[in-house]
Amino acid sequence: MIENIEQIKKDFDFTQEDVERIKKLKPILEKYLDEFISKFYFFISRFPDYNQFLKNEDLFKRHKSELKNWFLDLFSGNYDENYFSRLYKIGEVHVNIGLPTHYVNAAFNFVRRFIIEKIDAEIQDRNERNLYVTSIGKLIDINLDVLTLAYREKELIKYGALSKYTRILFVFAKRFSEIIDFVILGALVIVALFVFVLFGYDIYKILFNIIPFEEGIIILLGTLLILWAVGELMNEEIKHFKGGGFAITIFVSIALAAMIRKLLIASLSESGEKKVIELVAYSFVILVLGIVYWLIKKNKQQEI
Ligand code: HEM
Repeated sequence: MIENIEQIKKDFDFTQEDVERIKKLKPILEKYLDEFISKFYFFISRFPDYNQFLKNEDLFKRHKSELKNWFLDLFSGNYDENYFSRLYKIGEVHVNIGLPTHYVNAAFNFVRRFIIEKIDAEIQDRNERNLYVTSIGKLIDINLDVLTLAYREKELIKYGALSKYTRILFVFAKRFSEIIDFVILGALVIVALFVFVLFGYDIYKILFNIIPFEEGIIILLGTLLILWAVGELMNEEIKHFKGGGFAITIFVSIALAAMIRKLLIASLSESGEKKVIELVAYSFVILVLGIVYWLIKKNKQQEI
């Protein structure tokens, strides 16, 4: 529920001057109502799940008439309690039908661009145009804020509906998982230090002719590969620590790095049947890992 609409207006610095300017936009934007409606539906019909929400002609017609009212209300200059309650109700309806907030945000972005485009075309003076864009921009953001309030409250209710003990367990599990992340990050730093030592040891072996130069370079390359993999894993863990997701591809790339290192080292061993079998086996594993890596990446791109 909206508790204090005056506070919301104050937070957005939405003043009477903004209201007066928006009222002047009314006759300008009303001219474009039909164009707005047709472009809006063209825009949202590209959403993959569009048909799941506006699934029949009746719903579509109803939405069209509601959207027209909403668009005209935007320039009415009357932003009282009723206006805010209507916005909140629209948010609730969208929450109830399970419409992702992402779609609401994207649709609002379209609305903003449409209005700015028309202001640009209609108002020649640059300073005046900027003032109009700023005022309507505040109102659009207020609309989006109130519409998404219903989504935020639903999340809180979900959390609030948990029993006291479940909530304690929930908080404990979250803290525990943060500690695990922290320990993993520490362990990775230690591993990275060991790989540094290994890298130094490889250089020492080359410099003091303990191993042949050619062999040394290949071993060095293998160690570098592992160092790179550990670095990538650390970066991924840091992202996870900051609240991001975990990229499964990183594990595959580490396995790939380890296998390539093994292949490099195996290529240096004495020729013979064992070496051939080893080389073929490692190459096969690298090929399989490469295909898995490619498939995951391809899938990820399709999801985006
Ligand atoms: C700028 C963004 C949007 C605005 C301003 C808007 C506006 C509205 C309004 C005013 C209502 C009627 C609420 C009521 O009954 O009180 C509504 C309902 C609804 N909206 Fe939207 N909408 C937007 C985006 C979307 C999108 C992107 C979709 C789907 C892809 C969608 C699907 C629906 C559906 C299915 C209903 C319920 C219709 C019914 O049962 O009558 N809306 N919307």
